[in-house]
Formats: sequence, C-alpha cells, structure tokens
Amino acid sequence: MTNYDIRKDFSILNNQKIAYLDSGATTQKPIQVIRAVDNYYENENANPHRGAYKLSIKATEVYDEARKKVADFINAQSSEEIVFTRNATESLNLLAYSYGIENLKKDDKIVLSIMEHHSNLVPWQFVSQKTSAKLEYMYTNSEGEIPLEEINKKIVPGVKIVGITQVSNVLGTINPVKEIIKKAHSIGAIVIVDASQSVPHIKVDVTDMDADFLVFSGHKMLSPLGIGVLYGKKHLLEQLKPFLYGGDMIEYVYEQETTFAPVPTKFEAGTQNVGGAVGLSAAIDYLNNIGIENVEKIEKELISYAMKRLSELDFITIYGPKDLSKHTSVISFNVNGVHPHDVASILDSENVCIRSGNHCAQPLLRYMGIDSTCRVSFYIYNTKEDIDKLIDALMKTREIFAKWIK
Ligand code: ALA
Repeated sequence: MTNYDIRKDFSILNNQKIAYLDSGATTQKPIQVIRAVDNYYENENANPHRGAYKLSIKATEVYDEARKKVADFINAQSSEEIVFTRNATESLNLLAYSYGIENLKKDDKIVLSIMEHHSNLVPWQFVSQKTSAKLEYMYTNSEGEIPLEEINKKIVPGVKIVGITQVSNVLGTINPVKEIIKKAHSIGAIVIVDASQSVPHIKVDVTDMDADFLVFSGHKMLSPLGIGVLYGKKHLLEQLKPFLYGGDMIEYVYEQETTFAPVPTKFEAGTQNVGGAVGLSAAIDYLNNIGIENVEKIEKELISYAMKRLSELDFITIYGPKDLSKHTSVISFNVNGVHPHDVASILDSENVCIRSGNHCAQPLLRYMGIDSTCRVSFYIYNTKEDIDKLIDALMKTREIFAKWIK
C-alpha cells in the first residue's frame, strides 16, 4: 500500500486541495475511523459498566476490546496496564500528581530533556515546587541530539524520575530511550516516556524498551480528539493513588471512606469516552493494516525528499539531526529574516498548512537562541507533491519578502 492509495481514505485532503503538513499537531482521520465512530453512536451507544441490559454490555465490550487493541499495539503485558485518559497531557498530569507528589522529597531530582513539550515539563515544575525536589535538564548538541555523555552526567544517584520524549515535536530527533531507561534503572529511577510523536510513526514496544510509564494521544494517530493513553507497568500502577475521584473508579463507598476499583478502572472516574476508544481502536486497525514498517518506510521517503528539497534553498536554516536514522516525521526551519508566522500566512495562501511558533517548547527554543520556527510534519497520506507545493510556496515567500531575506 502506498501513500497515494492511503490518501484516498482522507476526503478532507482531497476536498480542500491542501498540502496538510501539520500532522504533529493533529492528524486527519480516515473514513474507516469516522465510520467506526458513527457506527458506535448509531448502534452501540450506552453507558459502559453501569447497565445490566444488552446495549450497556455491548458498550462495555467495545471499550474493553479497544483497551486490548492498544495493549497489543505497544506490546504491553496486559490490557490492565492501559489507562484511557483525555490525552497525553492528562496522562502526564496523572503521573505528576499520583507518582511525583506522592513519592518525591526535598533534594530528590527530576531529570527531563530540554526538548520536552510543555506537557511533560510544566507538571514537573509543579511537582518540584510542591516537594522541593530539584528539576534538571539534559541538553542537546548542535545537531539537536542528546549526547551519551550528557545522559551519563545527568542521570546519577539521587535522580528519581526521568522524563523523556521519544521523538521531539520540534526537531524530529529520535531519542535513545532504551539507553536512557537502562541508565535510569541502574541508579533506581523510573522513566516516563512521552510517545506522542513516536507511537503514530515508528514501532514502539514498551516491553522491549522497559518503560515504566509511557503516554500518547489518539488524535495524533488518526483517531478522534479526546482520547489518550497512559501505559504503566502493572505493579507501579497498583501503587499509585487515584488522580480523579468519582463514579466507577470505586469498589465500596462509605460515608467517610472509599475502597477503589482495581487498575485500570481506578484511574477512570466518570463516564468513559467509549466513542473515542472505538475511534482509537479503528485507527490502530487502520495502521496495522498498512503495517507499521510500511508507515516508517513511507515517512522515511517523505522526510528524505523534504530534507533534500529544503536543503537546496539557500535562504532557509534547518534545525535538528541531519542523520536521518535519528530523525522522523518533523522538520523545523526558518526563512532567514522573516517571522515564521508571516511565512505560515503566505504558505496558507498557497494552501499549504504548517505550524509556526514555539510549538509548546519554549525552553528548547530559548536554549537554541531562537523564539520560533516554521514546522512541517508528515504522515502516511502526504506525498512528494505536497512537498513540491511547500517548496513552491517558500519560493513565493522569498519573492514577497525579498527585501528582508538574509
Ligand atoms: N503537541 C502538538 C504539536 O506539537 C500540539 O503541535
């Protein structure tokens, strides 16, 4: 199956005649996912876990099947290790409250990479302020990679939590998470992997990498908005206190105290987003049908073609690893002398959709000495023609801003 075959399933791309290069923010949804969600609401909708009637049992079943689908997709040991949340941000907040605040104390250390998205950074600032644990960072080299020496220098005894994005949403860097986890475990720290930009694009195997916790959002991998995942090793999830309290996450409720349901239900208070889970399950079916190796192959071709074409433009600066074996799905660049928002507006007038700004990664950009970039991000429905359209629109930007371009 090629990207040209796949594109036919995305009517929005064909109807709007756009080069959609912002899948790092959210992906478009194929007709198969849209139909699965429609079918759920047309034929299967009820409140799960709460009714003894057939429709409620059906809703429970499809919700449980979705959980199993996710577990298999990332090779978790069991579906009990999969908690459904709203998105990666909520998963990370759950960990900050239920693990961070509960387990850290003064002078313990939290180590993050400087390339974390705000969602894996701001919650840890909060934990650090609440517990007086220290917050430290692993910094990148000029290629946008975290060198091994930096990992060994920062992950030392006293570190209790390491937070690392598997793929940078700004630079596209693929971080060596397996090595980081090995190092962290050798000094007794746990590792939280932000896989928001990796699970949709490359094979992620939580058992092989030995992640303690791993989070991602469904909407960046073809599913509807509002469904996210927290993976956790079962014994660790069992140790955590609940994050949200209310209906269904309980076992017995007395006037003054409550016992809680087993994992993962203990973390899913309130009526669950079954429609979202059904959409995520259909998205996984869709990706499995293409094959994740084929997803990787399609994206590798796109990224190397885009790198080649962008490198030919002498008026732009490209950021991130040049070694494409360490780079996936995202390219950040600047048109020298022109603000990224202006570039994005010109590109939009040519029907090319990109993201511009700080990409929710202000500490990284500040460290790099810039305040914003243009970012193109690819997915399986993009084609070489989308990239050609981008290059043509950048040439037009050069004409319009000729006086300012450095
Ligand atoms: N996290 C999303 C992005 O990188 C919104 O664009």
